Amino acid sequence: MKHFLDIHQTDPADLRSIIDNAATMKSSRLGRPRGAPDDEQPLKDHMVALIFEKPSTRTRVSFDVGVRQMGGQTMVLSGADMQLGHGETIADTARVLSRYVDLIMIRTFEEATLLEMAEYASVPVINGLTNRTHPCQIMADIMTFEEHSGPIKGKKVVWSGDGNNVFASFAHAAKAFDFELVFTGPQTLDPEAALNGLYTTERDPNKAVEGADLVVTDTWVSMHDPQSARERRHNQLRGYQVNDALMAKAKPDALFMHCLPAHRDDEVTSSVMDGPSSVIFDEAENRLHAQKSVMRWCLGK
Ligand code: CP
Ligand code: NVA
Repeated sequence: MKHFLDIHQTDPADLRSIIDNAATMKSSRLGRPRGAPDDEQPLKDHMVALIFEKPSTRTRVSFDVGVRQMGGQTMVLSGADMQLGHGETIADTARVLSRYVDLIMIRTFEEATLLEMAEYASVPVINGLTNRTHPCQIMADIMTFEEHSGPIKGKKVVWSGDGNNVFASFAHAAKAFDFELVFTGPQTLDPEAALNGLYTTERDPNKAVEGADLVVTDTWVSMHDPQSARERRHNQLRGYQVNDALMAKAKPDALFMHCLPAHRDDEVTSSVMDGPSSVIFDEAENRLHAQKSVMRWCLGK
């Protein structure tokens, strides 16, 4: 069973071919209407369940459109509306869904939910974000970096802000794709200890971004964080905002990325988001292409 649960649980050679295939699939659709079918229909006769226990714009729409372009059908399910949210076990839900659908994508809170779904499903399961990781996002990010700046191997990526779930997948990717990753943020929001050894830390953001090929940030308050932490986090993270002054210290051709949704003028200024270094909307688009390639890999198509 080829689940796509995390970057570090997927063979680096497979990750490489998923990204290369995504680029090929993207170029084969150039200029076509979004709803036009791909030339190849690898998901013909396939049904895909997209389960969301948290809000989503990009993940929801890009998976849905991607499945349809490849000839499959989708059902988008809210966790709260399923029996899953009312006491049915994850294992039983996984066994039941496996009788109806060919592939499951789930966005959930606890990583344990994803892992239990994968253990008991007899169809592939894809991680659409948990509190700990967001692997589909980072596949799109690597694809986007390479489109603009060539191979990511050996390049310097700097993450400024909260050491969160998106950072964790960047850390896994740093090992798989062999790039340097620097974390800059307050000690109180350091990444989890399990990621130690995959990145280095520089508390001073101005020093951290020196020589950077890519600067990345994300929201200061994630969906799983208590809203009561908002003010404290803003105070802790204010010095790590990505703004023009910070970008000016990176390499002249450095890119800026953010998985979105962004809080303009909190973690990043609008001038950077809308400026020449920003590739945020290419990143968002590439969720579609990267995930189509992930689904094909999962299904062996
Ligand atoms: N980046 C991302 O996963 O966005 P959504 O929460 O809108 O899916
Ligand atoms: N870190 C963010 C990413 C959203 C796509 C969150 O988990 O809310």
